[in-house]
Amino acid sequence: IIVGGLFVIVAYLLGSIPTGYLAGRYLKGIDIREYGSGGTGATNVLRSVGKEAAIAVLIIDLLKGAVAILLVKLFYYYASIEIVPASWQPWLIVVSALAALIGHSKSIWLQFTGGKSVATALGVLLVMNPLVALGTLSAFGIMLAISRIVSLSSITGAIAVNLIMILLHQPIPYLVFSAIAGIYVIIRHTSNIQRLMAGTEPKLGQTVPENN
Ligand code: G3P
Repeated sequence: IIVGGLFVIVAYLLGSIPTGYLAGRYLKGIDIREYGSGGTGATNVLRSVGKEAAIAVLIIDLLKGAVAILLVKLFYYYASIEIVPASWQPWLIVVSALAALIGHSKSIWLQFTGGKSVATALGVLLVMNPLVALGTLSAFGIMLAISRIVSLSSITGAIAVNLIMILLHQPIPYLVFSAIAGIYVIIRHTSNIQRLMAGTEPKLGQTVPENN
């Protein structure tokens, strides 16, 4: 339990790394939480800081999720003695993944604020099953191509990932992950959903009418 708990804490701390906030602070001298959507994710960095910064934030946020899961996988691969029962592995992966997602959107360094955990979730999926990640990214990409609205595309991905998991016969723990993570990501998009319904959600790279 203690060793398992350590992985969860490390995953939360990894997720907590406030990449988007740091980009705003050091590249533009702003608190990104006061600009655009108020989120600290790559989408808001693109809006409020710039393209290169957004790409860097996207990659690092993705890596935070990927590394959190890789650590658990590597541990099981290399640990010679069974410190944590082998049957726990998929569940430890799931709990660590969720911890990384929560860390990203409720960062310990940002008074428990942050982003919407989309990039970090994609990083998790890449390590869980690259095919699932590719399928989810495709659903996101198709919606982005049609609508040019990132939040709508993220919500589409959050729903699609569940279907893709089922279609690719993924293990139960991973299905549990996609269900919880999908709901979590959608809840994180509450203000976006309100703007979408009001018809005021900005398209890719545009600014948000009012901060909320
Ligand atoms: O990944 C976050 C995206 O779906 C929405 O970001 O800044 O438009 O709320 P934002």
